[in-house]
Amino acid sequence: MKLLLKGGRIVNPAQSFDAVADLLIEDGHVIEIGENISAEGAEIFDAEGLVVAPGLIDMHVHLREPGLEAKEDIVSGTRAAAAGGFTTIACMPNTKPAVDSSIVVSGIIHRAQYEGVVNVKVIGALSKGQEGKELAEIGDMIFTGAVAISDDGSSLNNNSLLKTGLEYTSMFDCPVITHSEDESLVEDGVMHEGAVSAMLGMKGRPAVAEDIAVARDIMLAEYADAKLHIAHVSSKGAVELIRQAKKKGIKVTAEATPHHLTLTDEAVKTFDTATKVNPPLRSADHVDALIKGLQDGTIDAIATDHAPHAFEEKDMEYKVAPPGFTGMETALGVVLTGLYHTGTLTLLELIERMSTAPARILGLEAGVLKVGCNADITIFDADAEWIVDSRKFYTKGKHTPFDKKPLKGKVVATIVKGKFVMRNGEVCT
Ligand code: DOR
Repeated sequence: MKLLLKGGRIVNPAQSFDAVADLLIEDGHVIEIGENISAEGAEIFDAEGLVVAPGLIDMHVHLREPGLEAKEDIVSGTRAAAAGGFTTIACMPNTKPAVDSSIVVSGIIHRAQYEGVVNVKVIGALSKGQEGKELAEIGDMIFTGAVAISDDGSSLNNNSLLKTGLEYTSMFDCPVITHSEDESLVEDGVMHEGAVSAMLGMKGRPAVAEDIAVARDIMLAEYADAKLHIAHVSSKGAVELIRQAKKKGIKVTAEATPHHLTLTDEAVKTFDTATKVNPPLRSADHVDALIKGLQDGTIDAIATDHAPHAFEEKDMEYKVAPPGFTGMETALGVVLTGLYHTGTLTLLELIERMSTAPARILGLEAGVLKVGCNADITIFDADAEWIVDSRKFYTKGKHTPFDKKPLKGKVVATIVKGKFVMRNGEVCT
């Protein structure tokens, strides 16, 4: 079966390639990229005026399976990924039970092969039950296919366990992903600590809690000579610490989310629980530092931290609603609107951070368009204007701070291993 993408703007950061060309797919692989390709019997997709990019990769997704299927499951989560233009996602282990053994890793991998519509990679827990007491079956999980190790959801308090975890994962050259917020400093805070939290009378989560945790994580990674990836960076102090660590040659990488890059704590003034997230939306000075970090490469990747909750869980007063909201179906539109159309990032840089970099960090053979590679491709219209309507989402999580917001830039089609899994907004498998 052949599929010819005709006349699209191919943006391929791995080769700094940004030009109009055709791309031919056969039996799930890219077999030719060039001008005026003709292929007898091929299905033709007119990509004129559209961007053809290596499939987007979301390295931070809460798929919620096993055990929390009222929030999300492999079917709904991977359909949301396809709708958002993601061809590969990596799922976090804070499920019930936690993903802390090879049997759970293989269960997710197998189920995703049958039920998932995009590629699913699994991130295993660092500690058993994510309780921060004993190491999980890290080696076994890596042998079964886990691509990274993390206790994401909250910060690990136990410095000694993190040190051992880093030493152990370094033997497999596998990254540890940290959720960096010092527990004793954030306690039951519900938003960024600053002028807005003072005005609203809400308990804050100070930025210094993130700075301290990131400093600790970096020091332990340097000591263990291990690969460390910092999840959802949101504070200016953390950006600077990561910048300096990279200069020293420490093996640290980092991600930022579309929401931390484009929203501030002003959004919390609505008391809408769709603005509640950990780490919290911060003040404009932090957002500016995050954007500079993204531009100069301190922040390697953009990841959504897609964290769906059941509607009734979020439909609570601000203090008691769980943190987190859905992100995959708005990510590309938000990033194009807030970072590309504002001149902050070029398309090459944007795709690099949403595809090529996450593939590199997780050691995946993906994130590039070249002859012979899997045909995992995202096609989007960088200029299409639309209004977010969370009721139409494929994810079960209907809360997002971007609901009803106008965006410029929309996914048109998602192709996984040569087959359309989404076309014109409709998931098609
Ligand atoms: O707000 C958040 N929600 N931050 C996280 O790190 C975890 C996530 C969740 O699992 O709901």
